[in-house]
Amino acid sequence: MKSFYVTTPIYYANDLPHLGSLYTTIVADSLRRHKRQLGYDTYFLTGTDEHGINIQRLAEKNGVSPKEYTDRIVAAFKTMFANFELDTAHGGYDIFMRTTEPFHYAGVAELWRRVARSKTPKGNSSIYKGHYEGWFCPNCAEYKTEDEYQRPEREGDPPTCLVHLKPLDRVSEESYFFRLSNFDQALLDLYEKRPDFILPEARRNEMISFVRRGLDDLSISRQKTSVSWAIPVPDDPGHSIYVWFDALSNYITAIGFGNQEPNQVVGFEKFWPAVHLVGKDILRQHTLYWPAFLLAAGIEPPRSVFAHGMWQDASGRRMSKTLGNTIDLDLLHECFPTDAVRYFCLREMVFGQDGRFGYEALIDRTNSDLASGLGNLSSRILTMIGRYCEGVVPSGKISEEKILSAKRSGVDTDETTIAGFIEHARDQFLQHFANYSFNRGLEVAWSVVARADKMITEAKPWDLAKDENQRQTLHAILYRAAESLRWLCVLLQPVMPGSTQEIYKQLGLSDSLSHANPAELRWGGLQSGTRIGEVKPVFPRLDKGSVLARVRGNERPVSAHATEAEAVPTASPSPSTKRQPPMVGATEADAVTGAEGVAFIDIADFAKVDLRVGQVVTAERLPKSDKLLLLNIDIGEEKPRQVLAGIAEYYEPAKLLGRKVVVVANLKPRKLRGHESQGMVVAASVGDEGRPVIATFTEDVPNGARLK
Ligand code: MSP
Repeated sequence: MKSFYVTTPIYYANDLPHLGSLYTTIVADSLRRHKRQLGYDTYFLTGTDEHGINIQRLAEKNGVSPKEYTDRIVAAFKTMFANFELDTAHGGYDIFMRTTEPFHYAGVAELWRRVARSKTPKGNSSIYKGHYEGWFCPNCAEYKTEDEYQRPEREGDPPTCLVHLKPLDRVSEESYFFRLSNFDQALLDLYEKRPDFILPEARRNEMISFVRRGLDDLSISRQKTSVSWAIPVPDDPGHSIYVWFDALSNYITAIGFGNQEPNQVVGFEKFWPAVHLVGKDILRQHTLYWPAFLLAAGIEPPRSVFAHGMWQDASGRRMSKTLGNTIDLDLLHECFPTDAVRYFCLREMVFGQDGRFGYEALIDRTNSDLASGLGNLSSRILTMIGRYCEGVVPSGKISEEKILSAKRSGVDTDETTIAGFIEHARDQFLQHFANYSFNRGLEVAWSVVARADKMITEAKPWDLAKDENQRQTLHAILYRAAESLRWLCVLLQPVMPGSTQEIYKQLGLSDSLSHANPAELRWGGLQSGTRIGEVKPVFPRLDKGSVLARVRGNERPVSAHATEAEAVPTASPSPSTKRQPPMVGATEADAVTGAEGVAFIDIADFAKVDLRVGQVVTAERLPKSDKLLLLNIDIGEEKPRQVLAGIAEYYEPAKLLGRKVVVVANLKPRKLRGHESQGMVVAASVGDEGRPVIATFTEDVPNGARLK
């Protein structure tokens, strides 16, 4: 039997679950259900990443042990997943993986040993001991290079992480290194030979250019005295394994790699390699570190790593606690049907690109696509079968002698027209799902909804019912509609398991849709004579006003100077996951905020920014940096300004020569990679990857002119 193994990232057990963790898990769950229908033997992993300095510190701050701390977070995750029917009891994940499991410790140690014994493709030892000196972000669990942090305001203060805007830790200690620098060619070969190893293609290209620029070795341990909440390095317990080495290994230890745990040995042989679904924020770890560790250990790399985009709020802003624009999962659960949330996640976001999550859009989709769309179609068909056919699925055939009257009523007497349409739609749907284009697959399914609706509206069964001569025509129409509905249930089951099974039941069908193979659907499979079940609305309409009032009334107000409560979640949250106050530590930014949470400034504030017209005089790449260009820009001063711009991935230096640009001239100079940057070039940030597009002028302007 063909096998399919899908994973989500294992989520940091430092904070309560959020929309991001729910989202990737919903997609993975839908994909696995789809593959299960197609006849694959499937395995679906999600879970938590529980080690590291961040969690160690949070636990200390809260006066509990790290394990107690993560146990509470895990309880909240499990309750949330159960609420959204993603747990094993609802046919969801097969394992909730925890990196604190003893079998995982055994597997990680085995992987480490294998890597440590191995030679790199260039014949060196894959792991060596050295000394690490640099900056580490405990929140990203990543070492940061100069262009990945913000230099401190005050001499002597640590720099801040550009992602978390929090201070970095200085690390200067003995460390084991993984010789990643020797794996560049092997990784490029892998990307080349397996075009679907990194998906979507834009991400693949991004990684190819990243690797081509050369790779640095990776520090893969910390001294136990600095990080004790970790898995010890085998045979050297004074050192702790780097949290990403530990976390990534979960994908294989969970299926029995390197351990004898009988519950866990579900079949490394059978299920590996996996498809990893991850957010684009952790692409590098999954497409560089992870395959390199595996290549070193002689293990096949994953089948694919698909990096999806990030949810932003309804106005396109990054979701953050500081802005108060995150989605409250308890409210989401209380106010919306689970299947509506699942449908919205797959329909609204183009998988691979960023998307916007707004309650209004969710209500609108629920009402239009589900209540008025699929739900209305279903009750329309079933009510008419009840009314005109005594609750029994009629025959779809029109006999020779009735063909003429059917034709006279304007009905297409050739059943193969609709059968052909729906078969074609099914094939497209399968193709889109195979390409992870879930939104397009769903669009196709809704073209079937529209087609069935149109067929009914045009045939007017209520008129046909008045004419005894048109009885067969009426039956044929209702049969076609009911058969289309059956196909829709099979196709849509992975996305909306509960509601499709309910519609199926109302159609009088009792088998489980979870193994109904869409590829094997044949027109005519619905038996005439089937007695339909009780007809009930499956997708109730949401009252927009009251739902919005509820979610908005419950939303945390966006206030200036607010500080997050410093509290650890209490043990096992109640079944309704009453959410505890957020974790220790995060402080909200000081900003005067408008109604939408957007920070307003005075004109006087704007006037503080000295924007000048400049002209690029020289441009060159900065050695050893993939992002930075070193520019000299004439802004009408005695000598040109030296400015470092993070645009090297998008602009060829030569093309910038002579270009008019806008420079922030009074920005405090800062040093990057040993070069002083005396200003900033203004650029638009475009698309989900934030491609910089430099601001320029179409008219002639002198260098040094001020922008006001
Ligand atoms: N623990 C690591 C992963 C280790 S995997 C071996 C980690 N955890 S995390 O808690 O930060 O989860 C990150 C993942 O959450 C993202 O990759 C993505 O799957 C999901 N999301 C987090 N925020 C998100 C959005 N705003 N939108 C969509 N998904 C996002 O990184």
